[in-house]
Amino acid sequence: MKRILSNETINYIGKEVKVCGWVNSIRVHGKIIFIDLRDISGILQVVFDYKNQEIYKIAEKVKPESVIELKGIINERPKNMINLKIKTGEVELLAKEIKILSKAETLPFSVEGDGYDINEEKRMKYRYLDLRRERMKRNLKTRFEVISFMRDFLKKEGFIEVETPILTKSTPEGARDFLVPSRLEKGKFYALPQSPQQYKQLLMVAGLEKYFQIARCFRDEDPRADRQAEFTQLDIETSFYSQEEILDLIERLYISLVKELFPEKKIQKIPFPRLTYKEVMEKYNSDKPDLRMDKNSKDELAFAFIVDFPMFVWSEEEKRWDAVHHPFTRPQTDNIKEIKKNPENILAYQYDFVLNGYEIGGGSLRTYNPEVLEAVFEVMGHKKDEIKEKFGHLLKAFEYGVPPHGGIAPGIDRFLSIVLNEPNIREVIAFPKTGDSRDLMMGAPDKVDEKQLKELGLEIKGIKDKDKKDKKKKEKK
Ligand code: AMO
Repeated sequence: MKRILSNETINYIGKEVKVCGWVNSIRVHGKIIFIDLRDISGILQVVFDYKNQEIYKIAEKVKPESVIELKGIINERPKNMINLKIKTGEVELLAKEIKILSKAETLPFSVEGDGYDINEEKRMKYRYLDLRRERMKRNLKTRFEVISFMRDFLKKEGFIEVETPILTKSTPEGARDFLVPSRLEKGKFYALPQSPQQYKQLLMVAGLEKYFQIARCFRDEDPRADRQAEFTQLDIETSFYSQEEILDLIERLYISLVKELFPEKKIQKIPFPRLTYKEVMEKYNSDKPDLRMDKNSKDELAFAFIVDFPMFVWSEEEKRWDAVHHPFTRPQTDNIKEIKKNPENILAYQYDFVLNGYEIGGGSLRTYNPEVLEAVFEVMGHKKDEIKEKFGHLLKAFEYGVPPHGGIAPGIDRFLSIVLNEPNIREVIAFPKTGDSRDLMMGAPDKVDEKQLKELGLEIKGIKDKDKKDKKKKEKK
């Protein structure tokens, strides 16, 4: 017999079925035992009658969260037993056979309820159990639906998804890189991409014109509620699009996405306001203002684009001008003299996408004129050799016919945490890292064998062993 899902049982009244899943709860009521069976589709009430002693005795002893297989007849529930809170609330399974497929030990915490009150380290260590809870499954399902919607939408708009490498070279997104040692060229390192920025620009040189990717990005920064070392962007790059055409694309995507997947939400203003950086800094003292009328309302979405960012910012630490976004952002002038003379006055074709006080995306048009690019590098105090070393491949590519291009990258994790009313992005990521960037379930980062180090030509020197230190601390206590 083929196994059916619990939510399908409503179509099988009077018929014999086979169902499988986890024991969500057991209630023994004298001559009757109720087991709530849980599978991916929901909950099904199963009844064991005392008269069927053989299976009654097994049911009596089964531990919650064990995995079982059941055969029996789907019956309508008596009127006074109907439970409208669950999809299968009008039926129940009268069990005829039970098979315990795997027994469960007592869980370290309950998987019922939303789980916010459980120690987060514990939730992370047993993430596979934490994900059993309804809320976490809903979040992962919604994440999949959002990503699927984005893919379908962009496909219809003529975009092509292209995968770009994870083992690559340092990119100038402004954060610290994660490095991967090379075995074949000892002493050299790959960097994990902070974003596919340079690849997507090279795809424009290649003539792809409309690129997107659900892209994993890596930045070695301290995690926060809205920041993980590893996160996901909807990465987009276009050729021949104006800034307004890019913003319009994003606006249409998010309006239709919210309408389709979050119909209960109210978008505060359409079209999304386009506010200048100067305006918002003066009015809100923030470049990601929360524009909601009622900040307590959980279903209000105040999207906006912040435009006209300054091209350069003075770095007091390094005593030099730095690019606000990255050096390939296009200044709003191609007057090279002006760029070099008055960097503080130059605006850029750069924009941020904000929602309810969070930056949920950022992008820019790119400089494709080599003279303008050189002027920008000069303002930033980059030496010619250094430019060649870092960006030579991109500059070279621009010598062979480069279209005007630009793009944007909305962060998927941040958007999801806002629409799902979650307090942080860890709640919308299947296997996130803790506040100190550890994976407590896998035990990463971890030491590696001497042999592995040797193969890579690496030697660990002068680093205090954190595990030993922690152990000593514990012993002292
Ligand atoms: P940017 O660095 O602004 O732009 O990143 C774009 C968006 O990615 C999200 N984001 C993050 N989300 C979670 N954790 C993080 N550590 C994190 N860092 C960034 C934010 C942010 O708005 N290549 C450019 C885009 C472009 O120019 O096209 C880029 O990555 O929502």
